[in-house]
Amino acid sequence: MSIIYDSNKKIFSLHTKNTTYQMMVDQHEYLLHLYYGSSNSGLMDYLLVYADRGFSGSPYVAGNDRTYSLDILPQEYPTLGTGDYRNYALNIENSDGSQCCDLKFSHYEIKKGKYSLKGLPAVWAGEKEADTLEIVLKDRVSKIEVSLLYGVLADEDIITRSAIIRNTGDNKVTIKKASCACLDFLTGDFDVMKFYGRHAMERNVERSRVGHGTISFGSRRGASSHQYNPAVILADKNATEDFGSCYGMLFVYSGNFLCEVEKDQMNQTRLLLGLNDDWFSYPLDVKEEFIVPEVIMTYSANGFAELSHRYHSCIRNHVCRGKYVNTERPVLINSWEAAYFDFNGETIVDLAKEAADLGIDMVVMDDGWFGKRDDDNSSLGDWCVNEKKLGCTLSELIRRVNDLGVKFGIWIEPEMVNEDSDLYRNHPDWIIKIGHRDPVRARNQLLLDFSRKEVRDHIFGQICEMLDQGNIEYIKWDMNRSMADVYAGNVTYDYVLGVYDFLEKLISKYPNVLIEGCSGGGGRFDAGMMYYTPQIWCSDNTDAISRTRIQYGSSFFYPISVVGSHVSAVPNHQTGRITSLNTRGVTAMAGTFGYEMNPALLSEAEKAVIREQVKTYKKYERLICQGDYYRLSNPFAEEYSAWMFVSEDKKQALVNVVRLDVQGNMVTTYVKLKGLKKEAMYIDDATGKVYNGAALMEAGMPLSFPKTEYEAYQIALTEIDMA
Ligand code: GLA
Repeated sequence: MSIIYDSNKKIFSLHTKNTTYQMMVDQHEYLLHLYYGSSNSGLMDYLLVYADRGFSGSPYVAGNDRTYSLDILPQEYPTLGTGDYRNYALNIENSDGSQCCDLKFSHYEIKKGKYSLKGLPAVWAGEKEADTLEIVLKDRVSKIEVSLLYGVLADEDIITRSAIIRNTGDNKVTIKKASCACLDFLTGDFDVMKFYGRHAMERNVERSRVGHGTISFGSRRGASSHQYNPAVILADKNATEDFGSCYGMLFVYSGNFLCEVEKDQMNQTRLLLGLNDDWFSYPLDVKEEFIVPEVIMTYSANGFAELSHRYHSCIRNHVCRGKYVNTERPVLINSWEAAYFDFNGETIVDLAKEAADLGIDMVVMDDGWFGKRDDDNSSLGDWCVNEKKLGCTLSELIRRVNDLGVKFGIWIEPEMVNEDSDLYRNHPDWIIKIGHRDPVRARNQLLLDFSRKEVRDHIFGQICEMLDQGNIEYIKWDMNRSMADVYAGNVTYDYVLGVYDFLEKLISKYPNVLIEGCSGGGGRFDAGMMYYTPQIWCSDNTDAISRTRIQYGSSFFYPISVVGSHVSAVPNHQTGRITSLNTRGVTAMAGTFGYEMNPALLSEAEKAVIREQVKTYKKYERLICQGDYYRLSNPFAEEYSAWMFVSEDKKQALVNVVRLDVQGNMVTTYVKLKGLKKEAMYIDDATGKVYNGAALMEAGMPLSFPKTEYEAYQIALTEIDMA
């Protein structure tokens, strides 16, 4: 059992293969955090030091003991109103208007298997793969009860946390803030790493020193956002890819979030991740409960690569679901950058013909097939096929595509409505808006109120009717604006649960359909969505050079198998940059592969390159999507971007390099590889050159001199059987 309770000292220990997490119920029944770090069989209560600190008061129960203060002690789930003046996980507004909740230990339970969360995505695991600890805390006055849930996946070195807040009292209360996980550190000099960005340039990496005060970031956009990903790394200031301590927290949620890192007066650090308290004020009636979405945590003593591997494995094997998780994904061609809104049925069939010729598995008909949509100003909400535009019915179109041996996929954006639509004309009250105020428009569209069942049901009916018209094997689920006009304190949360409810119904009804998430590219690229959609369009920016950076940032938490990545035309539509087809291919092969262009405009020579790319991707797909992924350079700081995939048995590796800059008389670049067997000899499949594993990792592999800018190289290595 990975969860041990020492009833003498009232200490809970959670053990994974390489880590230990400890907390204790103290003499006043408060749940204190003791330790999270490398495996440790000791009891860590000796770490607590009590001293009289000025202006840090004591709970009444401590009597005259001025050395006992919740403002100083490390806590597991700190609340506002207890004399702890640091950032807090929970704030309850009581029926009398006061804001206070004094949580004391009530009881606990240890169970086999991993808990699940009703209506919310969460890490899942078999009975033998995980254990659950539930610790129940209670405020004696308001009778608010909080269940802290811990899921321990020992082999994965993963600990998950969630909390359920229950009103067992006699009065209605309001939840004003609910974080999911809090980590208190007694010592440490940390850096915080956040993944910030914007539309078409998501998940840049920023590392900054944690000084006194609070560093906070989050989303109040209704979705997890392009601007900040709901993930954070707290790292020892010396930590690197392969060295040093680092902690990760990843939110399994697709809406507003808040992450706070605080260094306090005693140089202690507190890390909090959970729901954003802006626009949040959730009423909790008598006997009701509220579930705080889950956070996935890990600790690595050996740098970021190990931390990433843990998250990759956890997301692949314990978050993503459905038949596509571990099976090959179709290589697809999408109509968006090929034709935008300017297409008809013939255009799609022509794309399918090209696909068949190039070895591409699927054609996806993107935005523009419904209502009277010829630009982005109308028809969202009217999910009826525009047969006039297509020149045929949807079933005929699908049949024609399938007859070419090509699969068919389609784009939808179910959460949205245009004012110019029948849906809006019939149901103007279905949008998210504040009373009689005019709503904020974005991309000329409004947000449907998915917190309301009747709204969801209506759209679900329309989408099913469309899906039932033929053999549709893929859906791209888009969301192209942020939420504004929050009319009540429950909306941001209930909206996201509405989206989850819709998605759950969709995947149960259509288990064979692959769903790719999207929100203007990577605006909802989070572990919550990955529970429903095993791949997500990573960014609307398809430029290979930008993508090396976007995909680098994404790789800290998210595995390659969830990253939608395509080769597009040049000059690139977002940046105007020209890169070779080879460079675009190598870069897109760090994801679920596809094309976003019109192949009819290519030369025969270029088509030949594409045929080879598709073959190469299919040859290495398993290695790419299931292998261990290593970052070999930092493309924000270095002149090249390099990464590699290594098979589980370390017999096969695929090294990828893209040059980001070119200079005169270039200094030789030696790319140091990772994850190989030190003693093994590897052969370069293309050149026949043989290298020793340790040499490749210690001294590196010299790159050939560039003949042009943005060159890319892909090197496949296979271990030579010495027997
Ligand atoms: C979003 C997506 C694009 C495309 C357009 C269609 O921007 O990210 O890939 O589907 O919408 O409107």
